[in-house]
Amino acid sequence: MERTDKPLLKLENINVTFPVKKDFPFQKRRFVKAVSDVSLEIYPGETFGVVGESGCGKSTLANTTLGMQKVDSGKIFFEDKDLTVMNKRELKEVRRSMQMIFQDPFSSLNPRFSVFDIVSEPLRIKGGYTQEEMRALVAEMLAEVGLSEGDLDRFPSDFSGGQKQRIGIARALILKPKYLVCDEPVSALDVSVHAQILNLLMDLQEKFHITYLFISHNLAVVKRICDRVIVMYLGKVMEYGNVERIFKNPVHPYTKALISAIFDTDIDCPRERAKLKGEVPSPINPPAGCRFCGRCPEECPECSQGEPPLVEVEEDHFVACIRHTSLGEKA
Ligand SMILES: Nc1ncnc2c1ncn2[C@@H]1O[C@H](COP(=O)(O)OP(=O)(O)OP(=O)(O)O)[C@@H](O)[C@H]1O
Ligand code: SF4
Ligand SMILES: [Mg+2]
Repeated sequence: MERTDKPLLKLENINVTFPVKKDFPFQKRRFVKAVSDVSLEIYPGETFGVVGESGCGKSTLANTTLGMQKVDSGKIFFEDKDLTVMNKRELKEVRRSMQMIFQDPFSSLNPRFSVFDIVSEPLRIKGGYTQEEMRALVAEMLAEVGLSEGDLDRFPSDFSGGQKQRIGIARALILKPKYLVCDEPVSALDVSVHAQILNLLMDLQEKFHITYLFISHNLAVVKRICDRVIVMYLGKVMEYGNVERIFKNPVHPYTKALISAIFDTDIDCPRERAKLKGEVPSPINPPAGCRFCGRCPEECPECSQGEPPLVEVEEDHFVACIRHTSLGEKA
């Protein structure tokens, strides 16, 4: 998509750390650096992908964009308003425009509540609607997600996994948000319904002009549905920008390894198998210099001297690697 608008959401130098539980009473306090100095921009109507291995900070980053995660430092702008300086009332107001759908629809829906209770909850919290108005709005939204008015008084246990996720989507969209976080929205579902749910999300995005932040382990899906993407490793951005350009010309050795592991042969991307060494290090004590040190097939002695800055290697394509000039086709 063409980018002509101002960003809907902008993060500037976000840092988030979590204290780690002590193993014994006099142990020094330790911290997990879940998100380190992350800056990004998400544009209206785009699908912005977040990829990286488990524990790299994807969900923490997503919660940060929603103003749900306390940050150590940095700024979060939603429509030019800084969420980090808002009071509770202001944050509650702005958060009506931001919603989330969860990975696991089985545990995110209260089994004792009817579909109407679940989907109407945001309307009840907002207030100002009669019961009849809420039933009409919920019935309308159920039709949008492929369910029906007849489902209003049924309970989650009556539905399959894919249908449960449709209920979760209806709840997230009932207030017509501008921004929706989808944190692994199909990974808990049967493979046979992945495409249906993803197609539904894409249709709803177009119809309601919603901006998505889409977290996924599946790079083939990211390539298919995302406009721009951020590749994270141990809380830091490794590569960032336009999906087409990054998949055509991945520069960072980590992105190359992730892309080379895609099974789906319909995806057009470099196929040269790039194997990584070792395991992901502890986020409590990440490697000095580049965080990818120790696993990188291209590592050289200078890599541990300092953290590589994000450099623009082509339009809307940024890479954090000191060897970027020799690693990309076009760089
Ligand atoms: N509330 C918390 N308290 C302590 N540590 C936390 C907390 N939430 C996340 N972490 C740690 O922060 C790091 C990033 O976690 P996060 O959940 O954001 O990763 P993720 O990329 O979403 O992983 P996954 O793919 O498994 O969902 C991890 O090391 C995790 O253990
Ligand atoms: S800076 Fe060095 S260790 Fe880091 S990705 Fe580049 S080559 Fe690999
Ligand atoms: Mg997560």
